[in-house]
Amino acid sequence: MTIHPDVKEVLLTPEQIRDGVNRMAERIAGDYRDREPVLVGVLDGAVVFLSDLMRALPIPVRVDFVKWSSYGDHSTSSGEVQLLKDLSFSVEGKHVLVVEDIVDTGLTLRYLLENLESRGVASLAVAALLDKPSRRKVRVPLDYVGFQVPDEFVVGYGLDFAQHYRNLPYVAVLKPEVYRQA
Ligand code: IMP
Repeated sequence: MTIHPDVKEVLLTPEQIRDGVNRMAERIAGDYRDREPVLVGVLDGAVVFLSDLMRALPIPVRVDFVKWSSYGDHSTSSGEVQLLKDLSFSVEGKHVLVVEDIVDTGLTLRYLLENLESRGVASLAVAALLDKPSRRKVRVPLDYVGFQVPDEFVVGYGLDFAQHYRNLPYVAVLKPEVYRQA
């Protein structure tokens, strides 16, 4: 595997991610064997994870997306988020499974869960590829978690730094000088 020159360390290889996604899909398929879930992907970061997860699920699913305004600098985030792209169909009475790339402070997810709750969903659950528990500011229920990561800014497999590195097939930490240049 070719490693990008800006990468300091690969935290999760493509094989580890694939195994984690398959394990999660197996659990989800069991839990939703009698209900068709609507997978709600949170743009842009969850796109790669969602596309692998949905193909690993041997059950009927529907797929939709939401997009929030980005915080810019997460460390100084006030937690104010705005809905930039809403769902394209009603989820009233539906079994919604939110698909997130990473849960950091939990603020984005809390907004989304409150928002979906108010639409009268039949059930609501969360599947997150990555969990960074050390940074949590608000409690959010995570039903399915792929991997826990340390308190470091990670990129790859959908996750970006300044819109770059989303296409890396692994999850990695960048060299400190790359973060400083931004
Ligand atoms: P939260 O609201 O602080 O939990 O942040 C959630 C969003 O911030 C995620 O969906 C990501 O888009 C972004 N984010 C948080 N941590 C990272 C990271 O380490 N790398 C890339 N994006 C991140």
